[in-house]
Amino acid sequence: MGVLPVEEKRVITAQMEELRKQALENPEQFWDEKARALEWFKIWEKVLDDSQKPFFRWFVGGLINASYNCLDKHVKTWRKNKVAIIWEGEGGEIRKYTYRDLFVEVNRVASLLRNFGIREGDRIALYLPMIPELPIFMLAAARIGAIHTVVFSGFSSDSLAKRINDSKARLLVTADGGFRRGKIVPLKEIADKALEQTFSVENVIVVKRAGNPVNMVEGRDFWLHTLLEGVSKNTYIEPVKVDSNHPLFILYTSGTTGSPKGIYHSTGGYLVWVYWTFKWAFNLNDEDIWWCTADIGWITGHSYVVYGPLMHGLTTLMYEGALDYPAPDRVWSIIEKHGVTGFYTSPTAIRMFMRYGKNWVELHDLSSLRILGSVGEPINPEAWEWYFNIVGKGKCPIIDTWWQTETGGFMISPAAGIQLLPLKPGSATIPLPGVEADVYTEDGEPAPPGTQGYLVIKKPWPGMLLGVWGDPKRYIETYWSRFPNCYYPGDYAMRDEDGYFWILGRADEVLKVAAHRIGTMEIESALVSHPAVAEAAVIGKPDPIKGEVPVAFVVLREGYVPSLKLEEELLNLVSETIGPIAKPANIFFVHKLPKTRSGKIMRRVLKAIVKGEESLGDLSTIEDASAIEELKSLVGV
Ligand code: WT7
Repeated sequence: MGVLPVEEKRVITAQMEELRKQALENPEQFWDEKARALEWFKIWEKVLDDSQKPFFRWFVGGLINASYNCLDKHVKTWRKNKVAIIWEGEGGEIRKYTYRDLFVEVNRVASLLRNFGIREGDRIALYLPMIPELPIFMLAAARIGAIHTVVFSGFSSDSLAKRINDSKARLLVTADGGFRRGKIVPLKEIADKALEQTFSVENVIVVKRAGNPVNMVEGRDFWLHTLLEGVSKNTYIEPVKVDSNHPLFILYTSGTTGSPKGIYHSTGGYLVWVYWTFKWAFNLNDEDIWWCTADIGWITGHSYVVYGPLMHGLTTLMYEGALDYPAPDRVWSIIEKHGVTGFYTSPTAIRMFMRYGKNWVELHDLSSLRILGSVGEPINPEAWEWYFNIVGKGKCPIIDTWWQTETGGFMISPAAGIQLLPLKPGSATIPLPGVEADVYTEDGEPAPPGTQGYLVIKKPWPGMLLGVWGDPKRYIETYWSRFPNCYYPGDYAMRDEDGYFWILGRADEVLKVAAHRIGTMEIESALVSHPAVAEAAVIGKPDPIKGEVPVAFVVLREGYVPSLKLEEELLNLVSETIGPIAKPANIFFVHKLPKTRSGKIMRRVLKAIVKGEESLGDLSTIEDASAIEELKSLVGV
């Protein structure tokens, strides 16, 4: 592969330019051709319907099935005996599923779902650890046209309940427990608590994983292994031919309000996008062993642990546990053991490995690696260089992919499968074909090269979200209102003289903590639900490993005084309401928050104080400047 960062004049190559030109000048023709890489039961009548914008619809009238494209397509060929999933448990067990094995299990589970009365369009919630049953249930749902909504197994019962209620899931699939750093997370118990606050779930299927005791509700809860005893290995469930715009899944993600948004994706457009972006960016083939370390509870796992690799007939590795458990070289030992060739992880993980030191890396033979990827947050050049030199030994390009839950797949990324442009540490390079990105000023003018502005996408693309589940207004307001006729991702960006994009972090009240997306409002509303709390403001503080961490400022009600015990209580409350990943790194008890005269919390001032910045910016609108002194002394600047 040998295309490395070089110092010479960076030019966009003819090959890349040609493809981008075709995609942007004649998108209908371009995608009409590209979409045929997938198997369709019926070809679309129209490639793009923009009559209801911004509710763009792709491949209108086409009929397709995701499970068919991931499984049936391959079991018809020599790939039926190829390993589809290599699974490694945290304790070291290994399970391998060939495409044929996966096909068999998905059909059996699909028949179970049918027996529970699940039909096309019904939602099923999957609250599972990283075990093969998770992709099996996803594909089984897709097979019968049911819509899956995967809930990250690190989320709390409240978070799970919210997602079940919003999606009105009829069935919940969970496990007795999941392993995390050798300990058991009692998933069924957490799910039981969630079910006390929900009304739509009729049945629960429980996967036996950790062996911890659970409470099974007679007539409602069923063990998967018991159910499967009655289902033959020859079971075949005809894949339902769904409309291209039939939702494949709903995935909840944080926004700027207290409640997460149900991002839902189409079947046809989403699959076409994931198929091509994966091929363009990473260019993998049958010899590759692909490992994306993301949990399937996030979009990265949906698109590039499950759907992307399986559509391409690749071998995808799934690992159950923490990347540094039981020792800091776990990740390197997995790469060595399974001969991983493509490795895709987050900058937070890279910074963590960096801190452990290169000796842990050098204990292992990583010569199988040929391509590396990064996702989830901006990668700092220092982490990039370490990844490139220490992990990739200076031989593997780093594919820094910018995208979001909403975009379905990669948007701005180096493209090893088209033509790799010279890489610059910290830049995701240029948009992939079909993505027309720009950087706008506050007023919606193109920002001059080298200046910071807002990233915008100016044309629809096949992988775009269909909408926000049950809330079309929120879809329009969040994504299509900031700048006219543009999709607004909510990120700051800068384009340099060579046309390369640099993503500079969130422009809204969303944090990226260890590459996970968390809304400051969600944390604030958890905090104010405590009787002692009158007001709360949460901001992100830069963190050397996690990128940023939440920091909370809390004003107590009359009659309450700050204490360590109260702090502990508040931290637990956040953990229980959202999940441990949302826990603030610090809670500062203050008498007053900096507010404008119209009563808006000045988060940028809090941010500047926490960062220890000299200048706090324009303070002319502040209601009471005395708030600042208290904050400064508390934070210690
Ligand atoms: C937000 C989306 C995309 C899958 C994982 C996260 C940030 C994502 C990058 C990158 C800089 C990045 C953005 C984006 N982000 N990838 N390569 N460089 N920032 O999906 O949870 O929907 O978060 O993650 O801020 O908007 P998500």
